[in-house]
Amino acid sequence: MSAESDNEDVPAVSSIWGGRFAAAPSAIMEDINASIDFDRRLVFHDIEASRAHCKMLIQQGIITPGDGEAILAGLERVHREAEAGTLAFSRALEDVHMNVESRLAALIGDAAGRLHTARSRNDQVATDFRLWLRDAIDDLDRGLARLQAVLIDRAEAHAGDIMPGFTHLQTAQPVTLGHHLLAYVEMLGRDRGRLSDARGRLNECPLGAAALAGTSFPIDRRMTAAALGFARPCANSLDAVSDRDFAVEFLAAGSLLGVHLSRLAEELVIWSAEPFGFVRLADQYSTGSSIMPQTRNPDAAELVRAKTGRLMGALTTLLVVLKGLPLAYGKDLQEDKEPVFDAADTLGLCIAATAGMLETATFDTVRMRATAGKGFAGATDLADWLVRVGGLAFRRAHHVVGALVKMAEARGCNLEDLALADMRTVEPLIDADVYTVLGVDHSVASRISEGGTAPALVRAAAAEARRRFLG
Ligand code: ARG
Repeated sequence: MSAESDNEDVPAVSSIWGGRFAAAPSAIMEDINASIDFDRRLVFHDIEASRAHCKMLIQQGIITPGDGEAILAGLERVHREAEAGTLAFSRALEDVHMNVESRLAALIGDAAGRLHTARSRNDQVATDFRLWLRDAIDDLDRGLARLQAVLIDRAEAHAGDIMPGFTHLQTAQPVTLGHHLLAYVEMLGRDRGRLSDARGRLNECPLGAAALAGTSFPIDRRMTAAALGFARPCANSLDAVSDRDFAVEFLAAGSLLGVHLSRLAEELVIWSAEPFGFVRLADQYSTGSSIMPQTRNPDAAELVRAKTGRLMGALTTLLVVLKGLPLAYGKDLQEDKEPVFDAADTLGLCIAATAGMLETATFDTVRMRATAGKGFAGATDLADWLVRVGGLAFRRAHHVVGALVKMAEARGCNLEDLALADMRTVEPLIDADVYTVLGVDHSVASRISEGGTAPALVRAAAAEARRRFLG
């Protein structure tokens, strides 16, 4: 007599794996074990992988065409239900794989039980997750290309607009706003490259590794890999079910991307602060204060800046999960999904918010230009001129300009406001030509070395960036 029939209060054991069990899991066991609340996001990829597996089983004569057709038709119905939002998910069925299979069984009966021939949830989940992440990377890449396009458009429009360039957040040398914006286009280009590298290594198919050792059925792994758009099957079955490097790589690339977005966000926060006043974020991307009527807060930029923390947290989470994990599959690996889902969502939102802010922001180019002229931003130009025209050693020129800056500072004026006679008390070589090199327009126009900030170069760089990144 079975344990169940002894006591009618004992809930049914799992219909999927309960063969050797007499009692169902406790409620706490179900809480810690069930992943359906988050892995339901894999449902479409799970069905896609099952379709490919089923067609392969038919072709290899492992299941009959009759059973196979019934399974494919059933999977089609489950897909439609998932699309319509009517597919019910049950925690008792643990995860998305068992939920789909159980619904399939309800729809087509016994044939459903043949779908799991020559596979395991271990190779199944690794396959589903790679498929999901591949799509997520493609989505993010599209978002990044759009953000680059916004930056390039704005850079082109502001190729000749002068702003102070900073080092140590001290006014350093004048640059153009276009040049500054294009710096982020480069960062995002490298981010896209890293995501694309990760996608390339990700694109191998675990399906057919089964639980860990492969299978005795005559499967065709190349067929399923090709059907799912993978470049090839994973070479080693143990590695196939235990590898989550692709997720780590995604989170690492995503963390660095988040760092870049946070740097841009921080600049928007600083630039929109009243004492700077370089940029005004649109109403759609600003909020007010409930107490201070005058404030316009750059909340979206602040949140982009902060959300980087979640991305790094996700990377750390997964690295710690994987550290010291013996081969092959361990349930630890179920903890891979939430950090990846959260990071992908967070990145998508931050990219869209950054593009939205930049697209709608108004730069106060008059104010930027006026600020660029302050803080002795022309000091390097003056030193360079002394080297070029006066033949001074750069160190000596640096010293001379330092003395001139001190003089101007004491008088509360700019370098170009000093009288020639006063300048000559510091360095007699200086003549009236000095005034042609002082001033921000001359400064930026003279920066014509490759990758420099001269407006003509910035215009060319914007066109080149469009070709390199959006072509
Ligand atoms: N939900 C599981 C996961 O995400 C699926 C694999 C379960 N495999 C197992 N042997 N229990 O990892």
